[in-house]
Amino acid sequence: MATQDSPDRGLENADRPDLAEAGQASFDKIIAADSRIEPGDWMPDAYRKTLIRQISQHAHSEIIGMQPEGNWISRAPSLKRKAILMAKVQDEAGHGLYLYSAAETLGISRDVLNDQLLAGKARYSSIFNYPARNWADVGAIGWLVDGAAICNQVPLCRVSFGPYGRAMVRVCKEESFHQRQGFEILLELANGTKAQKQMAQDAVNSFYSPALMMFGPPDSDSAHSSQSISWNIKRFSNDELRQRFVGMIVEQVKVLGLTLPDHDIKFNEETGKWEYGELDWDEFNEVLAGRGPCNAQRLAHRREAHKNGAWVREAAAAYAAKKAKKEQVA
Ligand code: ACO
Repeated sequence: MATQDSPDRGLENADRPDLAEAGQASFDKIIAADSRIEPGDWMPDAYRKTLIRQISQHAHSEIIGMQPEGNWISRAPSLKRKAILMAKVQDEAGHGLYLYSAAETLGISRDVLNDQLLAGKARYSSIFNYPARNWADVGAIGWLVDGAAICNQVPLCRVSFGPYGRAMVRVCKEESFHQRQGFEILLELANGTKAQKQMAQDAVNSFYSPALMMFGPPDSDSAHSSQSISWNIKRFSNDELRQRFVGMIVEQVKVLGLTLPDHDIKFNEETGKWEYGELDWDEFNEVLAGRGPCNAQRLAHRREAHKNGAWVREAAAAYAAKKAKKEQVA
């Protein structure tokens, strides 16, 4: 039997087979009407599992994603830049919290998800295994990485699972500020000295391919897409979103006065789709296998941060217990 702390708590419909037929019919009706499934509704086990997988990977990405830029807070070039960057990194922590909370409504606890991350058993976005080497990289992360995140996440505001979709509305508003701050950093560098412009170009060159790979493997290799699309979890395929993103940045890069490191980008009038050059999927698979430039560093840092935060968790638990005792007495 699943217990409160078990990873499988609430994940199975097996306990109530009598509800399966009516539950499935109601679920199918909600999905067909493009309406929302809420946590108390019956849902297929596989739907629940898919959502826990995607939402938790997303939450982990937000938390690990604090590291590349967090590393630059103390080295930001001005007080204003520092304040903006701090706000952005704090936003990412907030996104992680909304997403862990959304996952919890599916019957899995945040502690279990956190344990999976710390044990190296959970995925988080490939992009956060690349280093932020200088201030221009911070700009490229904002423009390209957060830009790709928005492109992927705006459709998620319409995801069929209520708590996830509602969390995404706020996340997307904040991501949009993040992208603009990155663009503005690059714009200033691009209009600076020759060396600064070169730094901005190098940063764009470094982050272009990894940002495109954030959208996931090509559709032909995407294990989950077709099922997730049929459940209104994914609204577009990985390649469709990647093409849409290329179409966005191809115009924006002109305003920066920089170039994208891909000469094969073109809009195919016949198919109505953006075409871009070959991406290095071997590199993507290496990163997913834990052998990217910063995988080991990111996990080690996360484990250390968790260990250092033990006293905060203990203090919060002690305070909650004290408060509960007081309320009992009153
Ligand atoms: N980084 C790490 N793993 C990835 C990535 C990536 N960029 N893209 C795909 N994968 C993994 C999938 O998680 C899946 O692994 P699993 O079966 O072990 O869970 C596998 O590769 C196959 O990929 P797909 O079948 O295409 O997986 P899926 O349908 O889940 O699509 C996607 C992947 C597009 C990332 C989807 O999960 C999604 O939209 N997630 C929500 C958004 C998100 O997590 N964004 C992360 C960045 S957030 C930020 O920038 C702060």
